[in-house]
Amino acid sequence: MNYHLAPMMGYTDCYFRLLAEKLYKNHITTFSEMIVDKAIIHNETKTIDKHFLANNISSIQIAGSEPIEIKLAIQKLNKIDRINHINLNLGCPSSRVQENKLGLALTQYPTLVRECLHSLKTYNQKISVKCRLGLGLEEDQNYIFEYLSMFQEFEIKTVYIHCRNGVLDLDTKKNRTIPKINYELFLKCKKEFSDMELIPNGEINNLETIHYLSENKITQFMIGRQFANDLLFVEKIGLIKIDNKKQIISDYLDSFEKYQYLNLNLLKKAIFALLTKVKGAKKIKKDISEADSIIKIKNIFESNQIWN
Ligand SMILES: Cc1cc2nc3c(=O)[nH]c(=O)nc-3n(C[C@H](O)[C@H](O)[C@H](O)COP(=O)(O)O)c2cc1C
Repeated sequence: MNYHLAPMMGYTDCYFRLLAEKLYKNHITTFSEMIVDKAIIHNETKTIDKHFLANNISSIQIAGSEPIEIKLAIQKLNKIDRINHINLNLGCPSSRVQENKLGLALTQYPTLVRECLHSLKTYNQKISVKCRLGLGLEEDQNYIFEYLSMFQEFEIKTVYIHCRNGVLDLDTKKNRTIPKINYELFLKCKKEFSDMELIPNGEINNLETIHYLSENKITQFMIGRQFANDLLFVEKIGLIKIDNKKQIISDYLDSFEKYQYLNLNLLKKAIFALLTKVKGAKKIKKDISEADSIIKIKNIFESNQIWN
C-alpha cells in the first residue's frame, strides 16, 4: 500500500513532511501546503525555502487561475532541481481562494481550467491534480467525469479526489462536514477511467474504510487530518511496520545540524504527532516544549523508552 500525505495549510509544513518522508520512505508521497503561483513568480527563492527543506522530497502544490501566470511560475519551477512533481489545487473552497477564482472556484469555468492546464503542461516533470467529486451539494457525476476526461486529454494521469463535493460560499470547516463522503461515486470514476491513477481522499482514518476501499482494488490512499493527529496511525492499525523508529528520529534530528535558520517550534510540532497515545506522552511533550536545542530533544528521545 502507498500513502499520500494530503496538503494541509498550517500542518504539513516542511518539518512535518520531512519526518513523514523519513518514516515511510518510498511508501509515502508528500505535498507542500498550497502555494499561489504569484508567490513563485515574484520571489521563488524565498517561497521555496519557506516551504522546502534542502532534503525534502515533496511535491509542490500550486494554485492559480491566470494561464499566463501559471506559465511564468512553471518556468521558474522547471529550474528547481529539488522539485519534480507539481500538483494543481482545484478543490480548495476557502473564501480567500474563491475571491481569486482559485481552487474549487476555478472549476466553475471549464474553459479557463483548460487554459490553465495548457500552461501547467509546460512543466517538464510529473503533473497531478487534486479536486473534489462535485461542485455544490447535489451529486453530479457529470462534473467529475467531465473533469477526468479533460485531465486525460492533457495526459494528466494522477488525480487525487477528495471524495465529497465542495460548496462555494460555505466555510472550509463546513465544507468538510456538510457535503457527504461518497466513495461509491469515486469507485464509479475508478471503473470508468481505469487507465488513470485515481487516489481517494477524505475521512480515510480507520481500518474499516481502508479495508472497504482495498476490497475495491484501491491500494493508494491520501490521508490528511489523521496523519496530522497521529503520524504513526497506519502502523497502529497494522498496515505497515516501521522498524528502527528511534534511529529514524535521531537521523531526522541530526539532519538539522547544518541548518543556520531552524524553526524549532515547527520541528517540535512535527514530533508531537509521533506521541499520540504513547505512554507518558504528557511528560515527554512537556520536556520537548521546554527544550531549546536539537541536542536536548535528542536526549529526551534517547532517555525515554518510547518504542521497542
Ligand atoms: C487545516 C487544513 C488545511 C488544508 N489545506 C489544504 C491545502 O493547502 N491544499 C489542499 O489541497 N487541501 C487542503 N486541505 C484539505 C486536505 O488536503 C484534505 O483534502 C481534507 O482534509 C480531507 O482529507 P482528510 O479527511 O484525510 O483530512 C486542508 C485541510 C485542513 C483540515
